[in-house]
Amino acid sequence: MQNRKKPYGTLDASYQAAGGYNGLITLVDRFYDYMDSLPEASVIREMHPETLDESKEKLARFLSGWLGGPKRYQEKYGPIRIPMVHLHLDVGAAERDAWLLCMEKALDDSSYDAGFKTYLLDQLARPAERIREVTENRRANESTPKDS
Ligand code: HEM
Repeated sequence: MQNRKKPYGTLDASYQAAGGYNGLITLVDRFYDYMDSLPEASVIREMHPETLDESKEKLARFLSGWLGGPKRYQEKYGPIRIPMVHLHLDVGAAERDAWLLCMEKALDDSSYDAGFKTYLLDQLARPAERIREVTENRRANESTPKDS
């Protein structure tokens, strides 16, 4: 159909549905507000620096490109692989779920379409799970005795 909107995930449909860069800044602000205040998120909050300004900027920039908009993270910081930048952290199921809970609440506060909220949370659950797996693999390697 000619007048149908582009499905999320094609071209910049998701970036537009997120309200462009300003929409992402608002979303990320809310996300980190929840990380700052939810008891479930205190462990992952402590992994972050005291001041969250740079963490906010990096996540908003990353999401811009990831959702099909301008690649603002790479423009400023260069290439990024999400599981790898979290390699030094201990992310188990509880930490993964806490991150996603903050995002779910931030999305609930937004005026995005219900379908987009579900879509975005579902998409973010994938890299979040990859980060958990990377931690699990790292721990497994650390506990494997080395051959002498
Ligand atoms: C699974 C749970 C997650 C935890 C506990 C977590 C935690 C963190 C922490 C502690 C940092 C460092 C912040 C700083 O030093 O400023 C970070 C950086 C970052 N995270 Fe996550 N994160 C998670 C999931 C995700 C996901 C799913 C994404 C994107 C889809 C993401 C994107 C980023 C980006 C872009 C950075 C900045 C990397 C850099 O330039 O240093 N994170 N994360």
